[in-house]
Amino acid sequence: MRMQRHAAGVDVRAPAKVNLFLEVLARRADGYHDIATLMCAVSLCDTLECRAAPNGEVTLTCDLPGLETGAGNLVCRAAGALQRHTGCTQGARIHLQKRIPLAAGLAGGSSDAAAALAGLNELWQLGLPDAELAKMGAEIGSDVAFFFSTPAAWCTGRGERVTPAPLGRTLDLLLLCPDEGLSTPAVYRGVTVPEEPVNGTPLREALAAGDVVRAGALLHNRLQPPAERLCPAVAEWQARLTALQPAGAAMSGSGSSLFALCRDRREALRIARALHASARGRNTAGGPKLVLVRSCV
Ligand code: C5P
Repeated sequence: MRMQRHAAGVDVRAPAKVNLFLEVLARRADGYHDIATLMCAVSLCDTLECRAAPNGEVTLTCDLPGLETGAGNLVCRAAGALQRHTGCTQGARIHLQKRIPLAAGLAGGSSDAAAALAGLNELWQLGLPDAELAKMGAEIGSDVAFFFSTPAAWCTGRGERVTPAPLGRTLDLLLLCPDEGLSTPAVYRGVTVPEEPVNGTPLREALAAGDVVRAGALLHNRLQPPAERLCPAVAEWQARLTALQPAGAAMSGSGSSLFALCRDRREALRIARALHASARGRNTAGGPKLVLVRSCV
């Protein structure tokens, strides 16, 4: 998370993430699943502008019409948790510039929550260390803690137990976000817990060595089959991405976004252009959102 403090307040960039590996290990009694996942933050970002407010009230506005900005938004929940945890009586006006697609498996809402914790900690001069903010974040959502350990981390438990993972080089990726989003609980409900889970160590080693071609062949997401059953477009885009021969392609998180892991920026651009051209050829309205990104540094 990049943070900028200036006279008016604090601005925080909240990056999206992709899951380069996601295995489901067990169904839990609390309704969650134990997972093992390699998350990587990327350069597509929302921005949170945090400004001081005279009373203890926290208000949220957003440039995206229709986004819930009341108490249910993870940003408001993060602000409330921080006030309760510290006894802070200050307030804030927060404006969210939304660029990360919703219900896309890119953890936009979780990243916004992490950015709110970091931004308000700075605005209100609370001085909490990142580890404490990450612990609070884990109560708000399974993916929130990760954003205190970017660019990449190996995450277990519900996803909230985070160990930084080395990246041997910056990754070039093409994100492909279909129009139709997916509900995370619905996708998890459809998953089959494997008897023999795939081991993520070879992928972690390939990434640490900066071997993108090997990493591409080792991408894995156990949530992809149930997501494809709920949203056939995921399977269609997976096939079309694969046909364009990036180092690898897979779905991120619980979908519906996919990504191509590319050998370099030029390859990402080539694949984006090929997808644009074929969309024009098919003369269909709309189409998926394509975004060239890099792993955060
Ligand atoms: O933690 P978060 O609120 O992001 O999770 C949303 C939903 O996704 C959970 O209510 C649960 O249904 C599902 N989930 C799960 N196992 C995980 C993470 C999420 O089953 N490890």
